[in-house]
Amino acid sequence: MADTILVTGGAGYIGSHACLALLEAGCEVIALDNLVNASEESLRRVQELAGKALRFEKLDLLNAPALEALIKQTQPDAVIHFAGLKAVGESVAIPLTYYANNLTGTLNLLQALQQQGTRKLVFSSTATVYGPPDKNPVNETAPIRPTNPYGQCKAMIEQMLRDAHVADPSWNIALLRYFNPVGAHPSGRIGEDPLGIPNNLMPFIGQVATGRQPLLKIFGDDYPTPDGTGVRDYLHVMDLVEGHLAALEHLANEPGCVTYNLGTGTGHSVLEMVSAFEKAAGIELHQETVGRRAGDVAELRADPSLANDELGWQARRGLDEMCRDTWLWLSNNPAGYNDDEEPDQKHALQ
Ligand code: NAD
Ligand code: UFG
Repeated sequence: MADTILVTGGAGYIGSHACLALLEAGCEVIALDNLVNASEESLRRVQELAGKALRFEKLDLLNAPALEALIKQTQPDAVIHFAGLKAVGESVAIPLTYYANNLTGTLNLLQALQQQGTRKLVFSSTATVYGPPDKNPVNETAPIRPTNPYGQCKAMIEQMLRDAHVADPSWNIALLRYFNPVGAHPSGRIGEDPLGIPNNLMPFIGQVATGRQPLLKIFGDDYPTPDGTGVRDYLHVMDLVEGHLAALEHLANEPGCVTYNLGTGTGHSVLEMVSAFEKAAGIELHQETVGRRAGDVAELRADPSLANDELGWQARRGLDEMCRDTWLWLSNNPAGYNDDEEPDQKHALQ
């Protein structure tokens, strides 16, 4: 692939792994991020791992003129659109901020692309658009009924993109609904570095393991699941980014507007995650079972067969690899990207 790809949210968790995979696939990469939830250090390490430079633009999608100027100047062949705010609980507390950032940001992006002639886009959607499932595994025809503003934004953006494609079929769009991304690059150099106290299971486990949190709370052990704890479809971030490359290739060969679940199809309970992580890290996690978390479902698991069939994509990495790579990242970087760099190296990105 010799294309120029604009990666919005490129400094973030999934975006940084995608930038690396794109550089390794021979693409020119423009990483755009306002750094509201990321550090430039991730991209410095991406370039170090790839042995190649990318172009970083510290830019907010809400700054429409600057965004348009960047797209006009760089003329990307395609965009992978990761940028957005993503915390479910926060989206309930400050919904207008979420709607403004995620919807207006995306609208600005689409208008700039439309004006400048770029028509190929891969969008980060989420299994959250499904809301509570009627049955598992969930396939792409399941009803869309998100239960929080974060999920509403994703569902609205999906609709915006489908409408843009209907009005102008030269738009080539892949809507990728991620299940639960975890893990890190196997080098241990890049990984997930959440700001503040994490809500999600794996980053929380990581903070307990590294002593930043005293105790893991297990939210409910009375679900109708094999061990009573919640079951999710955890997916290695390296498999996830491979799904994006497969989607770009698919759009090049078969233009259209397509939607795919990206998950493994296999569910793991909270207790299974805890014991797999303990095994990988060789430590015991302090834990306590508490009541259910409001809004949680017992089980959410993907049917990934459409992506298997049409993209030729399949998640290849299992739970042990997810936990091993998470632990390598955490044990090498217990305080995330703030760890080991001299202050003046942090802004050395070209
Ligand atoms: P992340 O927060 O690490 O990355 C998102 C990036 O977008 C951040 O670096 C942030 O600084 C940037 N950003 C936010 N608003 C911006 C704006 N207005 N302008 C420019 N940059 C902006 O999150 P992630 O986990 O890498 O997620 C990437 C995408 O995948 C998000 O859209 C998220 O909703 C989606 N997603 C994530 C998960 C998950 O569990 N991680 C699951 C499903 C979907
Ligand atoms: N859990 C705990 N303790 C914790 C955190 C989580 O027991 O401290 C449990 C939850 O109750 C659930 C499971 O671990 O049973 C997974 O919880 P996460 O918060 O990691 O994941 P969710 O599936 O609930 O939701 C996440 C994100 C959404 C995203 C969705 C699908 O919050 O934004 O995955 O990708 F959209």
